[in-house]
Amino acid sequence: MNFIGIDVGTSSIKALLVGPNGNVLATSNPEYPFQTPAPLCAETDPDVWWDATCRALRELLQSVDSGSISGIGLTGQMHGLVLLDEKGLPLRPCIMWNDQRSFQECEEMTEKIGAAEVLRITGNPILAGFTAPKLRWVEKNEPEIFARISKVLLPKDFIRYRLTGEFYSEMSDASGTSMLNVGERKWSEEILAAMGWPKAWLPELTESTVASAKVSPDASELTGLAVDTPVIAGGGDQAAQAVGCGIVHEGMVSATLGTSGVVFAQSDQYRVEPEGKLHAFCHAVPGKWHLMGVMLSAAGSFQWYKNQLGKEEQVREECGEGNAYDLLTQSATTVDPGCEGLVFLPYLSGERTPYPDPHARGAFVGMTLRHSKAHLTRAVLEGVSYGLKDSLSLMQELGIRPSKIILSGGGARSELWKQMLADIFETSCCLVNATEGAAYGAALLAAVGCGSLPSVEDASREWIRETEQVETGPNFSEYKKNYGIYQDLYPALKKTFYNLSEE
Ligand code: XUL
Repeated sequence: MNFIGIDVGTSSIKALLVGPNGNVLATSNPEYPFQTPAPLCAETDPDVWWDATCRALRELLQSVDSGSISGIGLTGQMHGLVLLDEKGLPLRPCIMWNDQRSFQECEEMTEKIGAAEVLRITGNPILAGFTAPKLRWVEKNEPEIFARISKVLLPKDFIRYRLTGEFYSEMSDASGTSMLNVGERKWSEEILAAMGWPKAWLPELTESTVASAKVSPDASELTGLAVDTPVIAGGGDQAAQAVGCGIVHEGMVSATLGTSGVVFAQSDQYRVEPEGKLHAFCHAVPGKWHLMGVMLSAAGSFQWYKNQLGKEEQVREECGEGNAYDLLTQSATTVDPGCEGLVFLPYLSGERTPYPDPHARGAFVGMTLRHSKAHLTRAVLEGVSYGLKDSLSLMQELGIRPSKIILSGGGARSELWKQMLADIFETSCCLVNATEGAAYGAALLAAVGCGSLPSVEDASREWIRETEQVETGPNFSEYKKNYGIYQDLYPALKKTFYNLSEE
C-alpha cells in the first residue's frame, strides 16, 4: 500500500512515492522553465506540466508495481489561471501566481464590488497574483480567447483533469482565486454575478481528503498508473506544505523558505486580518482555516544573489569545493549581525505581505566603503528574515503567539539562516523529519483520502516528528534594532519604487 504526491511547481514537477508508514521511497523531479513574455508577466504552457507529470510518474513507477498505489494526492502552485476550450484544450499559457500584470483589474474589480464586500466574502483583498483579476485581464485584452472559455482551472486541477477527465477542485486552492466565499467554503455567487462570469466555468469543490476522481484509461497509458487509481483532492501548495510539516492544530505556525516565503498559522475558526493584510484561506484540514503571509522572493532573493554575484562560488562548486550557497553563507558568518548598518529589501518581484505592491523593488541600503561581499550576502539573508518577521508580527497582533515555529523549505537547511530566524522571530524554531514539502503533504492527504489513516491529524501524528530545536540566541537585540530600520524603508521608498517602475 503506497501513495503518490504530485506537486505542480513553478519550475518543476515533484512526484513522491511514499510508503505506508510515511517513508519516502522514491522521488522524481523533472524541471521546466517558465516564460516572462513582458515585464510583470509569468506564464507556462499547461501541457508542459502534463508532459513532465507523465515523465515523473513513469520514472516513479519503475521502482514499484502500479497496483500497489492506493491513491494519488495533488498539490501545486496556487492562483494560476488555466483556461480550457470546450474540447478541454488550453486556450493560452497559464498566467501564473507570480504574474503581476493585472494590478489595474484589481482596482477595477474592487471598485465594482466594494472593498468591504470583497473582504467580507473572500477574506482577502483582490491581489494581482490572484486568479480572478487575471480572468478580467483576459476578458479585456484577449476577447477572442475569453469568448471560447469553457472551464477555468487552477494548475493542479488541470493535472487532475488530464489524469481523470474530471473537473474538481478543493477549498484551499480555491481560496486564492478571489471567487470563493472562504467563510462558507463555496464559490461566491455574488462575485460571479458582479463580474458576469458563469459558475459552470468553475469545477466542483470538495474538501482536501475526498477521493474525487479516478485515473482514466488514456492517462493510464501515458503514465503507467493503473486504471481507476483514486485521485484525492489535495491542496494548494502552501496548505499541503503545512500539512506536510504537521501544521494541523489551532495556533501552530510554520515558516517556509522556498522561492516565495510563507508564514502560515492554522486556525480552527474563520478569522480575517481587519485590513486583509494576511491571507485568510481554507486549510487542507477539512473544515479548518489558516492565516498566511506571503513574500514573493524569499530563498528566491538568495538564488538571484547567487546567480548574479556568486559566480566565483559557482566556479568553486564546479571544482568540487562545496555547494555555492554554502560557500556564500560560510563567508556571511564572518560578519556581525546587523551587517554594520547594511539592510537589504527583498522585494525583487514586487511584494504581497505586508505590502501588496507590484511596483516594490529590491534594494541594498546603507552601503559604505567598509562593506564587503560577505556583508552583502548576510544582508540578503537578514532582509528575507525581516520580511518573514513582518508576517509573524501581523499574526502576533491578532493574538497568535506560537511557542515554537516549524521551519521548512530549502533555506531552512542552512545553519546560519535557521539561527537567524530563531533570533529575529524571538521564538524558538524547530525542524521536522518530513522535508519533502508540499508533495509530501499531498501524499499524506492521499493516505487519508483512500482510508488508510482516519484523519489528517492522525496521519500527521503517525508520520511527522520533530528532529531539531533552535533556540533564540543573544543576537536578537542587534537584529531588533535593524528590523526597526528595515520597517522604515518601504514607506520611505514606496514613491521611488513607483517612479522607477515607470522607466
Ligand atoms: C501562495 C503563493 C505561492 C505559490 C507558489 O499564495 O502565491 O506560494 O503558491 O508556490
